[in-house]
Amino acid sequence: MLIDTHCHLDLPQFDEDREEVLARAAAAGVTTLVTIGIDLPHSRSAIALADHYPQVFATVGVHPNESAGFGPETLDHLRQLAAHPKVVAIGEIGLDDYWQRVPGDVQKLAFRHQLDLAAELGLPVVIHDRDAHEDVRAELRDWVTGRLPGTPLAQRPFPGVLHSFSGDLAMAEEAYDWGFVLGLAGPVTFKNARDLHALARRLRPDRLLIETDAPYLTPHPHRGQRNEPAYVRLVANKLADLWEMPVERVAALTSRSACALYGLDRLPEAESAI
Ligand code: NI
Repeated sequence: MLIDTHCHLDLPQFDEDREEVLARAAAAGVTTLVTIGIDLPHSRSAIALADHYPQVFATVGVHPNESAGFGPETLDHLRQLAAHPKVVAIGEIGLDDYWQRVPGDVQKLAFRHQLDLAAELGLPVVIHDRDAHEDVRAELRDWVTGRLPGTPLAQRPFPGVLHSFSGDLAMAEEAYDWGFVLGLAGPVTFKNARDLHALARRLRPDRLLIETDAPYLTPHPHRGQRNEPAYVRLVANKLADLWEMPVERVAALTSRSACALYGLDRLPEAESAI
């Protein structure tokens, strides 16, 4: 059993063959998929897929690159969407200094509002951090130590995940202190990713999720092609290699953390899917 904890199944890259993509995922042992929202329209289409497929769950949120114009109405829409029973997190939210499509102060405002919404609703957060480690750490530190305690989310096993983790060991350890889990995607399978391999060897197997971020971040040996959820098995295989343990053990550990983060074991729909 494998869980693709982060993919974007609703994107047009899957419009031609979504059924086949899901069939290949099932054949590869991927029992559960979490499709991630990036703005309001995509959050709605993520929910529509979760409504249609028992093995698919959704998150709702506004990605930093889509956060221009974020305001009180956006927050109200997200709150309504999050009430759907198959919405398992708020995300992906965070900061992106790479593309710089939205001014940093606008990104930060959207990030803070969505962190607080997640805390209020008791839903974990899926964090996007691209070239913004120090700012993401500062924002999360303020939230975890200041605004999160005493909220419904503080009762959950993990408040969130740093998706496609790209920080260093010190950042990983701070995230563990906050109770977070980390996500690893295709880049850990790249042959030349020696620093990431060295880091992954030192990450906690009981605090790690595997993900594809499909259609992006395609793992070796499919680089250059579209990514898809079946390839999450390649991430599991690489971790088995790095951690020197059977892939079944990697699958069991990462699936357990994924179920705990997203509360999949609490949801009636999940029973048949898991
Ligand atoms: Ni993503």
